[in-house]
Amino acid sequence: MLLPTLEGSLINLRRINRSDAASIQRHANNSLVAQYLPFMPHPYSMEDARLWINTTHRLARTDIGYHFGIEDRASREIVGCIGLKNVNRHDLNAELGYWVSRAFWRNGFATEAVRLMQGFVFGQLKLRRLYAIVLEANTGSVKLLEKTGFVREGTWRKASLHKKRWYDVYSYGLLKEEFSRHS
Ligand SMILES: CC(C)(COP(=O)(O)OP(=O)(O)OC[C@H]1O[C@@H](n2cnc3c(N)ncnc32)[C@H](O)[C@@H]1OP(=O)(O)O)[C@@H](O)C(=O)NCCC(=O)NCCS
Repeated sequence: MLLPTLEGSLINLRRINRSDAASIQRHANNSLVAQYLPFMPHPYSMEDARLWINTTHRLARTDIGYHFGIEDRASREIVGCIGLKNVNRHDLNAELGYWVSRAFWRNGFATEAVRLMQGFVFGQLKLRRLYAIVLEANTGSVKLLEKTGFVREGTWRKASLHKKRWYDVYSYGLLKEEFSRHS
């Protein structure tokens, strides 16, 4: 699928281009951003950014995952990413993941990005359920999910070994009908 551009007021979600590699590298290369993201390399190199961008193109082409850049509308720079993985066409669900540059935290960027993705998931993709899994210690992400309507559905006890520590993992879900009721 050719990713659409989803327009918000603070940010847009758009396809990540090869020319975005330097921005992605700069914003992703932060230990606070990587802290609770088990799959994010740290330090984050230009090569990591190029590989990631190629991966997003391949996943979108094969309809396995849809990853957007979070574009700051003021500067037109990519300052984070948000995407869907494990897109399940039979059970009509997908998993949400995201990060925003440390320099832009607490400006409402992630809130807007998550809401735009919810519209994409339940509107364009016509999925039934969107879910996210988050380490217990990741307070910012937990609050973001709850603020955007996700319901905590369970706790997977000591389910993630991250940086030599075992974490409980929360599972959050949002159904299409819950999204429609609140939008
Ligand atoms: C989680 C993250 C995406 C939030 O991005 P953001 O753009 O700062 O989020 P918003 O400004 O939209 O904030 C949404 C709400 O989340 C909460 N929140 C966000 N960051 C927080 C923090 N550091 N501490 C406490 N609450 C926080 C607040 O309740 C906030 O709403 P409010 O400002 O109205 O009180 C960002 O901190 C991040 O990229 N973290 C690292 C990557 C990551 O952990 N991703 C999630 C993996 S599951």
